[in-house]
Amino acid sequence: MQTVIVTGASRGIGRAIARACATRGMAVIATYRTGAADAAALVEEIATSGGQAEALYLDVAQTDSFAAFGEQVRAVASRRWSASALAGLVNNAGEGGFEPIETFGEDAFDALYRVHLKGPFFLTQTLLPMFARGSSIVNIGSATTRVASVGVAPYAAFKGGLETLTRYMAKEFGPRGIRVNTVAPGAIRTNLAGGIPEEFEVMVERETALGRVGEVGDVAGVVASLLGTDWAWVNAQRIEVSGGYFI
Ligand SMILES: NC(=O)c1ccc[n+]([C@@H]2O[C@H](COP(=O)([O-])OP(=O)(O)OC[C@H]3O[C@@H](n4cnc5c(N)ncnc54)[C@H](OP(=O)(O)O)[C@@H]3O)[C@@H](O)[C@H]2O)c1
Repeated sequence: MQTVIVTGASRGIGRAIARACATRGMAVIATYRTGAADAAALVEEIATSGGQAEALYLDVAQTDSFAAFGEQVRAVASRRWSASALAGLVNNAGEGGFEPIETFGEDAFDALYRVHLKGPFFLTQTLLPMFARGSSIVNIGSATTRVASVGVAPYAAFKGGLETLTRYMAKEFGPRGIRVNTVAPGAIRTNLAGGIPEEFEVMVERETALGRVGEVGDVAGVVASLLGTDWAWVNAQRIEVSGGYFI
């Protein structure tokens, strides 16, 4: 059984990815930060439908906790699934923080940097020795790196950094048989930063070829497929999942 980790799986896109992975027969380690009850409910839901999952606490902004998290992952994978190696990681955990450059505060800037760029870098570094040949890492980027919107600069800049990091990870991890791709969603209906403002939704509908905002299921299946073998020759790519936003 392939064991994969999905960060930020208590809600939103991560939760849907965890479900999609379990449906495809993967054993899922679903991480949560504040949403312990939501994560527990997800694990139960997956078990009820015949899948396998376990929830672990992780704050991706706390790099000094990663070594201990890695040990927990090892223990869970071994105890639950007799697995000594991982087959995949989805760096999904994230938060919003949207304000124009003119007034954006330094603390908020640093917080976004830790969650969206520093965290995925060092978490992946920590888990690297555990990945089997044939593993797949998916970094969740964003359409905001391609299309600029007012107020999104630091978030988009760090997502852009993550997308660049994807290519470097693919280069350095290739000899180990690990592939790394970015999935870059357009606007997806979740509670990120309080949800999508109405006027933004209207603009997204107008500027999206398929004429609507995305739902978590639009992204989840793509990510789960990338973790599987059908996409085993796709590497170092940025795959935008936006219904055709600003084309
Ligand atoms: N929604 C969109 O339109 C959209 C578009 C493009 C990209 N994305 C990206 O997609 C990813 C998921 O976003 P979403 O829309 O699903 O957001 P969401 O519904 O707000 O869920 C965010 C998830 O990330 C977790 N999280 C937040 N900060 C964390 C931290 N410091 N450490 C660990 N976990 C943390 C949350 O955990 P707890 O709730 O347990 O604290 C939650 O599970 C993010 O990387 C986001 O940037 C979203």
